[in-house]
Amino acid sequence: MKAIVVTDQAAGTAGMTLVERDAPEPAGNDVLVEVHASGFTPGELTWPSNWTDRLGRDRTPSIPGHELAGVVSALGYGTRGLSVGQRVFGLTDWTRDGTLAEYTAVEARNLAPLPGDVDFTVGASLPISGLTAWQGLFDHGRLRPGQSVLVHGAAGGVGSMVTQLAGEAGAYVVATGRARDRQAALDLGAQEFVDLDRDTLEDVGRVDLVFDVIGGDVQKRSAALVQAGGTLVTIAGPPEARPADGLAIDFVVEADRAQLSEIVRRVRDGRLRTNIGTVATLDDAVAAFNPTERPTGKTIIRVRP
Ligand SMILES: NC(=O)c1ccc[n+]([C@@H]2O[C@H](COP(=O)([O-])OP(=O)(O)OC[C@H]3O[C@@H](n4cnc5c(N)ncnc54)[C@H](OP(=O)(O)O)[C@@H]3O)[C@@H](O)[C@H]2O)c1
Repeated sequence: MKAIVVTDQAAGTAGMTLVERDAPEPAGNDVLVEVHASGFTPGELTWPSNWTDRLGRDRTPSIPGHELAGVVSALGYGTRGLSVGQRVFGLTDWTRDGTLAEYTAVEARNLAPLPGDVDFTVGASLPISGLTAWQGLFDHGRLRPGQSVLVHGAAGGVGSMVTQLAGEAGAYVVATGRARDRQAALDLGAQEFVDLDRDTLEDVGRVDLVFDVIGGDVQKRSAALVQAGGTLVTIAGPPEARPADGLAIDFVVEADRAQLSEIVRRVRDGRLRTNIGTVATLDDAVAAFNPTERPTGKTIIRVRP
């Protein structure tokens, strides 16, 4: 099969190469998926799980990309809950070969059925952004209607989902980003927008929840805005600051079939819009992940036309 592999962490996405590999064998409780579309998260290649397995052993050359939409083509021993020929989408294990390939093996429980009227490209854009937003807001942030949320990077992959889901949940959403992101964030339902390059973040006042995707100074200044009993949730690594009278929580997104189904239901009925930018073939994937201009929206690789 064709696959994108990486061998050199320092090279980042520039080190991606297209190669021929054997298709993987599905293990117990796995399915083998014929990948139709694959997503890739910015920053993924900096995570240790791309380079080593759970015992810390080198696993290069590794196949990056950990979200997919496709069709089940074989079952591993004992696999229940999905069947051959079924359309699926979901998040794959960070420490196994991923989805920038024609086939990938993944635990069946990590996947959810992809309804027939949802395009594979759309399906592949949802797992990481959608699950991260859902888990950050509801599992870790314990968001309740009427609360206020400061959403950083609101025009990005995760932030655009956070902005919409928080709004639907009845929260007051203050979105941040760069000047060019203002209209996109307001169109997604944010009540206010803060241009982090020009506006003063502290003018936002106190909020119940901060959803941080940036880290560093932005995170430290945001921690000070969390009101008593509130929470700072970050996906940008271990927290560098804590609210004086609240929680700071970092987490890594997990596969969750029920949450995937909730997310795709909202896409189908129009409550949730996904943020797709470039769509490229597997042959053109390396160029697509090394753009000469700032990409807008998520880059999706359409593995099968
Ligand atoms: N822990 C987890 O489970 C988890 C899950 C998903 C993602 N992540 C990580 O979370 C981060 C965001 O992911 P994503 O998919 O949402 O990325 P993305 O699509 O690139 O979105 C990030 C957004 O934040 C903006 N931004 C970043 N720094 C900024 C700054 N200093 N001022 C203003 N705007 C800024 C970006 O604008 P520019 O493009 O203009 O910089 C972009 O619009 C990545 O580092 C990713 O690796 C972690």
